[in-house]
Amino acid sequence: MSTVRIRATVNGQVRESEVDARRLLIHWLRDDLGLTGSHVGCDTSNCGACTCLLGDEAIKSCTVLAAQADGLEITTIEGMSQDGELHPLQAAFRDEHGLQCGYCTPGMIMAAEGLLRRNPNPSEEEVRHGLEGNLCRCTGYQNIVKAVITASQHGPGAGTREPEGAQV
Ligand code: FES
Ligand code: FES
Repeated sequence: MSTVRIRATVNGQVRESEVDARRLLIHWLRDDLGLTGSHVGCDTSNCGACTCLLGDEAIKSCTVLAAQADGLEITTIEGMSQDGELHPLQAAFRDEHGLQCGYCTPGMIMAAEGLLRRNPNPSEEEVRHGLEGNLCRCTGYQNIVKAVITASQHGPGAGTREPEGAQV
């Protein structure tokens, strides 16, 4: 088995490992680093549950070798909230009921983050197009699209909003 040494910044922390040259990025994240927020729905590039950011680009981490991430910056769902506050996308998914079972949600949020970094004010059609590689078997997608539009409208700080009707 040939191995390679990789060093990448994951959610702001430098992580280094010796990995099988054929090891997939999703398996490095989940099994070696314990970042199990990225899910494996298919392992064949169909569902998008494993989506994370490589740099600013949303990628399906079951389609990338861990070795290909060497020297790069990776963001997973665990890296999205800051200082105990939800990221605006996480808050919007909560407020707009953009999830049911939650299995697809980390991948949806990371795909949406990649989209919003490219295009901070997407149209509904652009959101639908941007998320077309991510499958959800529960929601029917409407509230997911609404959540991404809401997050794009509220921008930084939206994560600190209380949900409508919240008891304080
Ligand atoms: S697990 Fe990667 S696309 Fe489904
Ligand atoms: S919320 Fe269940 S798969 Fe999307």
